[in-house]
Amino acid sequence: MSVFPGGASASGALHLPTPFFIRSVEADNERTRTITLNASLNAIPGQFVMAWLPRFDEKPFSLVAADPVTLMITAVGPFSKLLHRLQPGDRLWIRGPFGRAFRLPCHGIRAAFVGGGYGVAPLLWLARAWLPDLDALTVIIGARTSDDLLYMDRFDALPKAVKESAARMKIFTCTEDGSAGVAGLATDQLEAHMSAGELDLICACGPHGMLAAIDRLGEKFAVPRQLSWEAYMRCAVGICGSCELNGSVLCLDGPVLEHGNV
Ligand SMILES: Cc1cc2nc3c(=O)[nH]c(=O)nc-3n(C[C@H](O)[C@H](O)[C@H](O)COP(=O)(O)OP(=O)(O)OC[C@H]3O[C@@H](n4cnc5c(N)ncnc54)[C@H](O)[C@@H]3O)c2cc1C
Ligand code: FES
Repeated sequence: MSVFPGGASASGALHLPTPFFIRSVEADNERTRTITLNASLNAIPGQFVMAWLPRFDEKPFSLVAADPVTLMITAVGPFSKLLHRLQPGDRLWIRGPFGRAFRLPCHGIRAAFVGGGYGVAPLLWLARAWLPDLDALTVIIGARTSDDLLYMDRFDALPKAVKESAARMKIFTCTEDGSAGVAGLATDQLEAHMSAGELDLICACGPHGMLAAIDRLGEKFAVPRQLSWEAYMRCAVGICGSCELNGSVLCLDGPVLEHGNV
Protein backbone atom coordinates (compact mmCIF):
# COMPACT_ATOMS: atom_id res chain seq x y z
CA MET A 1 0.00 0.00 0.00
CA SER A 2 1.25 3.51 -0.80
CA VAL A 3 1.15 6.38 1.68
CA PHE A 4 0.94 9.95 0.44
CA PRO A 5 1.52 12.98 2.65
CA GLY A 6 -1.39 15.38 3.13
CA GLY A 7 -2.21 17.37 0.03
CA ALA A 8 0.36 15.70 -2.21
CA SER A 9 -0.24 13.36 -5.10
CA ALA A 10 1.83 10.41 -6.28
CA SER A 11 3.64 12.64 -8.72
CA GLY A 12 4.66 14.90 -5.85
CA ALA A 13 2.72 17.82 -7.40
CA LEU A 14 0.18 19.51 -5.14
CA HIS A 15 -3.50 19.20 -5.99
CA LEU A 16 -3.18 16.85 -8.97
CA PRO A 17 -5.40 13.76 -8.88
CA THR A 18 -3.64 10.50 -8.09
CA PRO A 19 -5.01 7.22 -9.47
CA PHE A 20 -5.73 4.69 -6.71
CA PHE A 21 -7.15 1.19 -7.10
CA ILE A 22 -10.35 0.04 -5.43
CA ARG A 23 -9.61 -2.73 -2.98
CA SER A 24 -13.16 -3.49 -1.79
CA VAL A 25 -16.77 -2.36 -2.14
CA GLU A 26 -19.33 -3.03 0.60
CA ALA A 27 -23.08 -2.40 0.34
CA ASP A 28 -24.32 -0.50 3.42
CA ASN A 29 -27.91 -0.22 2.23
CA GLU A 30 -29.75 0.01 -1.08
CA ARG A 31 -28.40 3.48 -1.88
CA THR A 32 -25.06 3.51 -0.07
CA ARG A 33 -21.71 1.78 -0.53
CA THR A 34 -18.39 1.98 1.26
CA ILE A 35 -15.40 1.96 -1.07
CA THR A 36 -11.92 1.18 0.25
CA LEU A 37 -8.88 2.12 -1.82
CA ASN A 38 -5.37 0.68 -1.92
CA ALA A 39 -3.61 3.74 -0.46
CA SER A 40 -3.38 5.89 2.64
CA LEU A 41 -3.32 9.65 3.20
CA ASN A 42 -2.10 11.77 6.08
CA ALA A 43 -5.44 13.21 7.14
CA ILE A 44 -7.59 13.74 10.23
CA PRO A 45 -11.34 13.22 10.86
CA GLY A 46 -13.50 15.84 9.16
CA GLN A 47 -11.27 16.35 6.13
CA PHE A 48 -12.45 15.45 2.64
CA VAL A 49 -11.01 14.39 -0.72
CA MET A 50 -12.03 15.15 -4.30
CA ALA A 51 -12.87 11.95 -6.23
CA TRP A 52 -12.46 12.23 -10.01
CA LEU A 53 -13.61 10.06 -12.88
CA PRO A 54 -11.85 11.40 -16.00
CA ARG A 55 -14.14 12.90 -18.67
CA PHE A 56 -17.05 12.81 -16.25
CA ASP A 57 -16.87 14.83 -13.03
CA GLU A 58 -15.08 15.42 -9.75
CA LYS A 59 -16.88 15.75 -6.38
CA PRO A 60 -15.99 15.99 -2.68
CA PHE A 61 -16.39 13.09 -0.23
CA SER A 62 -15.69 12.93 3.49
CA LEU A 63 -12.99 10.52 4.55
CA VAL A 64 -14.44 7.61 6.53
CA ALA A 65 -10.84 6.63 7.20
CA ALA A 66 -7.45 7.59 5.78
CA ASP A 67 -5.51 4.38 6.32
CA PRO A 68 -6.56 2.95 3.95
CA VAL A 69 -8.57 5.68 2.20
CA THR A 70 -12.26 4.83 2.68
CA LEU A 71 -15.30 6.66 1.29
CA MET A 72 -19.03 6.24 1.82
CA ILE A 73 -21.04 7.00 -1.32
CA THR A 74 -24.82 7.46 -1.41
CA ALA A 75 -26.21 7.22 -4.94
CA VAL A 76 -28.36 10.31 -5.54
CA GLY A 77 -27.34 11.61 -8.99
CA PRO A 78 -25.19 10.94 -12.07
CA PHE A 79 -21.75 11.03 -10.43
CA SER A 80 -22.54 9.04 -7.30
CA LYS A 81 -24.44 6.47 -9.39
CA LEU A 82 -21.39 6.05 -11.61
CA LEU A 83 -19.19 5.58 -8.51
CA HIS A 84 -21.54 2.77 -7.49
CA ARG A 85 -20.62 0.91 -10.68
CA LEU A 86 -16.94 0.72 -9.69
CA GLN A 87 -15.63 -2.70 -8.72
CA PRO A 88 -12.48 -3.94 -6.94
CA GLY A 89 -9.52 -3.41 -9.26
CA ASP A 90 -11.03 -0.32 -10.95
CA ARG A 91 -9.25 3.04 -10.69
CA LEU A 92 -10.48 6.15 -8.87
CA TRP A 93 -8.52 9.42 -8.96
CA ILE A 94 -8.17 11.29 -5.66
CA ARG A 95 -7.03 14.82 -4.73
CA GLY A 96 -6.53 15.84 -1.14
CA PRO A 97 -6.99 15.67 1.77
CA PHE A 98 -8.56 19.12 2.04
CA GLY A 99 -10.27 21.32 4.56
CA ARG A 100 -10.50 21.96 8.28
CA ALA A 101 -11.14 18.93 10.46
CA PHE A 102 -12.93 18.56 13.79
CA ARG A 103 -10.82 19.87 16.70
CA LEU A 104 -10.77 18.46 20.22
CA PRO A 105 -10.78 21.60 22.41
CA CYS A 106 -9.56 19.83 25.58
CA HIS A 107 -9.54 16.42 27.25
CA GLY A 108 -12.30 15.16 29.55
CA ILE A 109 -15.30 16.82 27.88
CA ARG A 110 -18.77 15.34 27.23
CA ALA A 111 -19.44 15.39 23.49
CA ALA A 112 -22.36 14.49 21.23
CA PHE A 113 -21.80 13.40 17.63
CA VAL A 114 -24.90 13.78 15.45
CA GLY A 115 -25.03 12.25 11.97
CA GLY A 116 -27.83 12.46 9.42
CA GLY A 117 -27.73 10.21 6.32
CA TYR A 118 -24.18 9.90 4.93
CA GLY A 119 -23.21 12.55 7.49
CA VAL A 120 -22.19 9.64 9.73
CA ALA A 121 -19.22 9.08 7.38
CA PRO A 122 -16.63 11.25 9.23
CA LEU A 123 -18.12 10.66 12.70
CA LEU A 124 -17.16 7.00 13.05
CA TRP A 125 -13.49 7.87 12.55
CA LEU A 126 -13.89 10.87 14.86
CA ALA A 127 -15.35 8.64 17.59
CA ARG A 128 -12.46 6.19 17.27
CA ALA A 129 -9.92 9.03 17.45
CA TRP A 130 -11.46 11.00 20.33
CA LEU A 131 -13.03 8.30 22.57
CA PRO A 132 -9.90 7.74 24.69
CA ASP A 133 -9.84 11.48 25.55
CA LEU A 134 -13.55 12.09 26.16
CA ASP A 135 -15.35 11.85 29.48
CA ALA A 136 -18.56 10.77 27.72
CA LEU A 137 -19.74 10.39 24.11
CA THR A 138 -23.37 10.47 22.99
CA VAL A 139 -23.79 9.32 19.37
CA ILE A 140 -27.09 10.20 17.70
CA ILE A 141 -27.76 8.72 14.26
CA GLY A 142 -30.79 9.92 12.36
CA ALA A 143 -32.47 8.78 9.16
CA ARG A 144 -35.87 8.79 7.51
CA THR A 145 -36.47 5.02 7.91
CA SER A 146 -34.65 2.01 9.36
CA ASP A 147 -33.44 1.15 5.83
CA ASP A 148 -31.64 4.51 5.64
CA LEU A 149 -29.70 4.13 8.92
CA LEU A 150 -25.99 3.84 8.24
CA TYR A 151 -23.01 2.34 10.09
CA MET A 152 -25.06 1.22 13.14
CA ASP A 153 -23.06 -2.03 13.31
CA ARG A 154 -19.76 -0.16 13.06
CA PHE A 155 -20.70 2.23 15.87
CA ASP A 156 -21.95 -0.70 18.00
CA ALA A 157 -18.57 -2.42 17.57
CA LEU A 158 -16.60 0.68 18.57
CA PRO A 159 -16.60 0.35 22.39
CA LYS A 160 -15.00 -3.09 22.04
CA ALA A 161 -12.42 -1.79 19.58
CA VAL A 162 -11.44 1.23 21.70
CA LYS A 163 -10.33 -0.11 25.08
CA GLU A 164 -12.30 0.74 28.24
CA SER A 165 -14.68 3.03 26.36
CA ALA A 166 -17.94 1.03 26.72
CA ALA A 167 -19.12 2.95 29.79
CA ARG A 168 -18.43 6.29 28.17
CA MET A 169 -20.29 5.81 24.90
CA LYS A 170 -24.05 5.74 24.34
CA ILE A 171 -25.67 5.33 20.92
CA PHE A 172 -29.17 6.54 20.03
CA THR A 173 -30.96 6.00 16.74
CA CYS A 174 -33.87 8.08 15.48
CA THR A 175 -36.06 7.49 12.47
CA GLU A 176 -38.66 9.90 11.17
CA ASP A 177 -41.19 7.08 10.58
CA GLY A 178 -40.41 5.32 13.88
CA SER A 179 -39.31 2.08 12.13
CA ALA A 180 -36.15 1.88 14.30
CA GLY A 181 -35.00 3.55 17.49
CA VAL A 182 -36.87 6.59 18.74
CA ALA A 183 -39.52 8.07 16.43
CA GLY A 184 -38.61 11.63 15.48
CA LEU A 185 -35.67 13.76 14.46
CA ALA A 186 -32.06 13.46 15.63
CA THR A 187 -32.37 17.05 16.85
CA ASP A 188 -35.26 16.09 19.21
CA GLN A 189 -32.98 13.51 20.83
CA LEU A 190 -30.14 16.02 20.97
CA GLU A 191 -32.35 18.64 22.62
CA ALA A 192 -33.25 16.18 25.40
CA HIS A 193 -29.55 15.72 26.21
CA MET A 194 -28.85 19.43 25.99
CA SER A 195 -31.69 20.45 28.26
CA ALA A 196 -30.42 17.88 30.81
CA GLY A 197 -27.11 19.77 30.79
CA GLU A 198 -25.19 16.68 29.64
CA LEU A 199 -23.09 18.17 26.83
CA ASP A 200 -20.00 20.38 26.48
CA LEU A 201 -19.61 20.09 22.67
CA ILE A 202 -21.61 18.99 19.62
CA CYS A 203 -20.02 17.72 16.43
CA ALA A 204 -22.39 17.12 13.52
CA CYS A 205 -22.51 16.29 9.83
CA GLY A 206 -25.62 15.97 7.70
CA PRO A 207 -28.19 17.95 5.71
CA HIS A 208 -28.18 21.76 6.02
CA GLY A 209 -31.60 21.78 7.73
CA MET A 210 -30.34 19.49 10.48
CA LEU A 211 -27.16 21.52 10.98
CA ALA A 212 -29.10 24.80 11.10
CA ALA A 213 -31.43 23.31 13.76
CA ILE A 214 -28.41 22.11 15.78
CA ASP A 215 -26.86 25.55 15.53
CA ARG A 216 -30.06 27.14 16.94
CA LEU A 217 -30.17 24.58 19.78
CA GLY A 218 -26.51 25.20 20.55
CA GLU A 219 -27.17 28.92 20.83
CA LYS A 220 -30.22 28.35 23.03
CA PHE A 221 -28.36 26.08 25.48
CA ALA A 222 -24.97 27.82 25.07
CA VAL A 223 -23.21 24.64 23.89
CA PRO A 224 -20.39 25.10 21.33
CA ARG A 225 -20.69 23.15 18.11
CA GLN A 226 -18.48 22.04 15.24
CA LEU A 227 -20.64 21.55 12.14
CA SER A 228 -19.51 20.04 8.84
CA TRP A 229 -21.31 21.91 6.06
CA GLU A 230 -21.73 20.91 2.42
CA ALA A 231 -21.41 23.15 -0.62
CA TYR A 232 -20.84 22.77 -4.33
CA MET A 233 -17.06 22.38 -4.71
CA ARG A 234 -14.94 22.65 -7.83
CA CYS A 235 -11.33 23.60 -7.09
CA ALA A 236 -11.20 22.63 -3.36
CA VAL A 237 -8.29 25.04 -2.87
CA GLY A 238 -10.04 28.39 -2.37
CA ILE A 239 -9.81 29.75 -5.93
CA CYS A 240 -13.17 29.32 -7.70
CA GLY A 241 -15.51 30.61 -4.94
CA SER A 242 -18.22 28.02 -5.69
CA CYS A 243 -18.28 26.77 -2.07
CA GLU A 244 -18.98 30.12 -0.37
CA LEU A 245 -21.41 29.91 2.58
CA ASN A 246 -22.25 33.01 4.62
CA GLY A 247 -18.84 34.55 3.92
CA SER A 248 -16.84 31.34 4.52
CA VAL A 249 -15.00 29.53 1.74
CA LEU A 250 -15.94 26.04 2.84
CA CYS A 251 -13.12 24.13 1.13
CA LEU A 252 -10.55 26.16 3.12
CA ASP A 253 -12.40 27.55 6.18
CA GLY A 254 -14.49 24.35 6.46
CA PRO A 255 -16.07 21.99 5.85
CA VAL A 256 -16.09 21.98 9.68
CA LEU A 257 -17.02 25.43 11.03
CA GLU A 258 -16.90 26.25 14.73
CA HIS A 259 -19.95 28.01 16.20
CA GLY A 260 -20.13 29.42 19.70
CA ASN A 261 -17.15 29.52 22.06
CA VAL A 262 -15.39 26.21 21.44
C1 LIG B 1 -17.35 18.36 2.13
C2 LIG B 1 -18.31 17.40 1.45
C3 LIG B 1 -18.34 16.07 1.85
C4 LIG B 1 -19.21 15.16 1.22
N1 LIG B 1 -19.21 13.87 1.63
C5 LIG B 1 -20.02 12.98 1.05
C6 LIG B 1 -20.01 11.61 1.48
O1 LIG B 1 -19.29 11.23 2.41
N2 LIG B 1 -20.83 10.75 0.83
C7 LIG B 1 -21.67 11.15 -0.20
O2 LIG B 1 -22.39 10.31 -0.75
N3 LIG B 1 -21.69 12.43 -0.62
C8 LIG B 1 -20.89 13.35 -0.04
N4 LIG B 1 -20.90 14.66 -0.45
C9 LIG B 1 -21.78 15.02 -1.60
C10 LIG B 1 -21.11 14.66 -2.94
O3 LIG B 1 -20.02 15.52 -3.15
C11 LIG B 1 -22.07 14.85 -4.14
O4 LIG B 1 -22.71 16.07 -4.05
C12 LIG B 1 -23.11 13.76 -4.20
O5 LIG B 1 -22.46 12.52 -4.41
C13 LIG B 1 -24.13 13.99 -5.33
O6 LIG B 1 -23.49 14.11 -6.57
P1 LIG B 1 -24.20 13.57 -7.93
O7 LIG B 1 -23.50 14.16 -9.10
O8 LIG B 1 -24.34 12.10 -7.88
O9 LIG B 1 -25.68 14.13 -7.81
P2 LIG B 1 -26.20 15.63 -8.07
O10 LIG B 1 -26.48 15.81 -9.53
O11 LIG B 1 -25.28 16.60 -7.42
O12 LIG B 1 -27.54 15.56 -7.27
C14 LIG B 1 -28.66 14.82 -7.82
C15 LIG B 1 -29.91 15.19 -7.08
O13 LIG B 1 -29.87 14.64 -5.76
C16 LIG B 1 -30.02 15.67 -4.79
N5 LIG B 1 -29.17 15.31 -3.66
C17 LIG B 1 -27.86 15.63 -3.51
N6 LIG B 1 -27.41 15.09 -2.34
C18 LIG B 1 -28.46 14.42 -1.80
C19 LIG B 1 -28.66 13.65 -0.61
N7 LIG B 1 -27.68 13.49 0.27
N8 LIG B 1 -29.85 13.07 -0.37
C20 LIG B 1 -30.86 13.24 -1.24
N9 LIG B 1 -30.76 13.96 -2.38
C21 LIG B 1 -29.59 14.54 -2.64
C22 LIG B 1 -29.61 16.95 -5.49
O14 LIG B 1 -30.27 18.08 -4.91
C23 LIG B 1 -30.08 16.70 -6.92
O15 LIG B 1 -31.44 17.01 -7.05
C24 LIG B 1 -20.08 15.60 0.17
C25 LIG B 1 -20.07 16.94 -0.21
C26 LIG B 1 -19.20 17.84 0.43
C27 LIG B 1 -19.19 19.27 0.02
S1 FES C 1 -14.28 24.84 -4.16
FE1 FES C 1 -13.31 26.50 -5.16
S2 FES C 1 -13.16 27.99 -3.60
FE2 FES C 1 -13.94 26.24 -2.56
